[in-house]
Amino acid sequence: MKILVTAGPTREFLDPVRFLSNRSTGKMGYAVAERAIARGFETTLVSGPVALAPPAGAKLVSVVSALEMLEAVREALPGHDALVMAAAVADWRPVKRSVGKLKKREMSTCLELEQNPDILTTLQPMKGRGIWVGFAAETSRLLDEAKSKLLRKSLDMIVANDVSQTDAGFEVDTNRVVLLSRNEKTRFLPLMQKIEVADCILDWIEDQKNMA
Ligand code: PMT
Repeated sequence: MKILVTAGPTREFLDPVRFLSNRSTGKMGYAVAERAIARGFETTLVSGPVALAPPAGAKLVSVVSALEMLEAVREALPGHDALVMAAAVADWRPVKRSVGKLKKREMSTCLELEQNPDILTTLQPMKGRGIWVGFAAETSRLLDEAKSKLLRKSLDMIVANDVSQTDAGFEVDTNRVVLLSRNEKTRFLPLMQKIEVADCILDWIEDQKNMA
């Protein structure tokens, strides 16, 4: 089994010093990569800037921005059986990226934003028989929002996590997720280590592969 995992945040620079980003540490995606390797999967990890060492045996592709992550996933994807998009990809980037460090007086006029492409949607034509798992990071209407993304992004499963919780989502070692798939009943997992969440996701992927 060949699996491609994305992890971490992206950074959208407005000058050489400042950027828009988010709280992702990469822990969730790196846990999926680590457990995939433990199962003997050939694992590619496309990672935004994080402070974690990649799991031994992973093919690491480091990126910074959402556009770089899009191109890295597009290039790496062919030949992979599964894709797990755990990365927190910035939906917006500054319209202008200043060559020099912006002066205070310039800052207020430099925060005009434009949308980044959605990686899952953009690359959907490459999906074929691939098993694609996305994540939904929500602070309200968890199930509705996750279900909508499952369908809108043509995923096989989406892992929904309420990132407003202090013991789940960004930064912490634990997560509390709901697994929503197209053809099975919704599974509410209790709070557990991200490593254990990773195993639940990989068990599901293996089951799908074996049933194909
Ligand atoms: O890294 P940690 O600190 O461990 O935190 C883990 C996590 C909270 C980042 C992780 O569990 C998580 O929820 N990751 C998804 C974060 C996110 O971007 O969710 P979203 O609901 O905004 O995006 C939905 C899906 O579309 C995600 O699979 C995302 O990777 C993908 N996406 C988002 C934006 C974009 N431009 N292109 C995408 O493909």
